[in-house]
Amino acid sequence: MISIKSSREIALMKKAGSILANVFEVLEPLCKPGVTTNYLSQIAEKVIREAGGIPEEKGYYGYPAAICTSVNDEVVHGIPSNRKLKNGDIVSLDIVVSYQGYMADACRTFPVGKISQSAQKLIDVTKECFFKAMEFARPGNHIGDLSHAVQSHAEANGFSVTRDYTGHGLGKSMHEDPMVPNYGLSGKGVVLKEGMTIAVEPIILEGRKETKVLPDDWTAVTIDGKLAAHYENSIVITKDGYEILTKLEEGK
Ligand code: MF3
Ligand code: CO
Repeated sequence: MISIKSSREIALMKKAGSILANVFEVLEPLCKPGVTTNYLSQIAEKVIREAGGIPEEKGYYGYPAAICTSVNDEVVHGIPSNRKLKNGDIVSLDIVVSYQGYMADACRTFPVGKISQSAQKLIDVTKECFFKAMEFARPGNHIGDLSHAVQSHAEANGFSVTRDYTGHGLGKSMHEDPMVPNYGLSGKGVVLKEGMTIAVEPIILEGRKETKVLPDDWTAVTIDGKLAAHYENSIVITKDGYEILTKLEEGK
């Protein structure tokens, strides 16, 4: 079942999204050599709670931390630890915030110190994939139009798309229908309607598309040890297009 949100619900998701966007403002400059992923998670939790939000990943199916911090070949669900970021790393911060029961979900991949040109290209193309998908985000288009836009841009740049993790609807729950894959065919899948809220999240791999989960039962890594990048926003489908929910409040 795909729920259509009221303007009140959308306003609450926007508030959650603005809290989340502000967390990235705080965390980005902290992604420096020597900083632990635990520290990033602790700061994120503090900023979220001080703003009246809840870091929803904490305790989600037993997930042990406030945010996900996936470094280099870690694709998703990297658990914050005493691991120190080092020069040349890339780190994906995937965060879910709720405000008065409504969720916002977003991810950014940040460089640590000076990174290689190829790592920068992966980060850039991953973000571009999101905005390629947005060219199709309006009522009447299909989820497959977004999926196809992501896949073709990634593959045209020599990268691959994981089949193991997808975007999703969200609202009162972190994960709702529909699924929003990063691969697929134009014209296929659910038809977008005004008031649908979805998290669109290109997860792009530098090498092979296969991933595996480490023995901690959470951390997904690339099978070939090459890099992964992730860019995600929550959006609402509007009358004639879309609006990003995970952005700073206007005027900030
Ligand atoms: N934020 C992730 C997503 O995009 C979900 C993380 S699940 C958790 O769907 F358990 F790790 F928090
Ligand atoms: Co998500």
